[in-house]
Amino acid sequence: MSARIIDGKVLAAELRAAVAAEARRLAAGQGLQPGLAVVLVGDNAASRSYVASKSRAVLEAGMRSFDHRLAADTSERELIALIQKLNADAAVHGILVQMPLPPPIDAARVIASVDPAKDVDGFHPLNAGRLACGLPGLVPCTPMGCIKLAKTVHASLAGLDALVLGRSNIVGKPLFQLLLAENATVTVAHSRSRDLPALCRRADLLCAAIGRPEMVRGDWIKPGATVIDVGINRVAGGAQKSRLIGDVCFAEAVDVAGAITPVPGGVGPMTIACLLVNTLRAACAQAGLPQPAV
Ligand code: GUN
Repeated sequence: MSARIIDGKVLAAELRAAVAAEARRLAAGQGLQPGLAVVLVGDNAASRSYVASKSRAVLEAGMRSFDHRLAADTSERELIALIQKLNADAAVHGILVQMPLPPPIDAARVIASVDPAKDVDGFHPLNAGRLACGLPGLVPCTPMGCIKLAKTVHASLAGLDALVLGRSNIVGKPLFQLLLAENATVTVAHSRSRDLPALCRRADLLCAAIGRPEMVRGDWIKPGATVIDVGINRVAGGAQKSRLIGDVCFAEAVDVAGAITPVPGGVGPMTIACLLVNTLRAACAQAGLPQPAV
């Protein structure tokens, strides 16, 4: 069997176009242009590349992008002072602080300083709590993208046995909450779980977000299962080049799964498209407008 490839690039392009159309409607009807502030501290190469992609996508969707690049030795106090300025700036509807932050900055304190109404990452404890309680709020972008990708295969996720591999605040925990809200039966497994292969083999929907290159092998996958690979691991690719691989061994999994996301071109593009969705939603909420249809 050869799995259907879930094309994240195509789906993300459709979502970005829908957001751009809503943004044009807002500009024409309300004179409102959503704005996103992107804050990068230090010069981590991967973070620089992600941040550039996010800012470009924001501009392409007809929104404003406010870029803040801070030196690696920026203090936590300086960073929080910038965030407080952005919290008070009416042109800024969303604030994204790229993770990871260089030590000794305490990421939890930085996240808590973002106005929850502008927390387009959905990382603030208030938004995490709202998600856990089933209340409306801003939802983390990568898990939101995973759900949208899974729903291209399954009209409903209700009753599916879902396994989330990984328990980070950015992906694993919020993805657990979102799958539960979709009425899936959800297990969260992690590096300390016993017999990961057996847990994986039970899953109709396997979401791998554990950050270990190609850890999930073909024989860990239930035949016909849907596999969402959140991993983005840069490995040496020969001739001094590097390449990106997921947490799932794609070459093996593609012969067993029913559907699978590739890396790159799966979850990654959807994360950026969902960031645009959150920026649009945040702008509408702050302007007292109804939530957009996207
Ligand atoms: N680092 C890795 N993923 C993310 C993300 O979704 N948002 C932010 N702010 N930083 C990240």
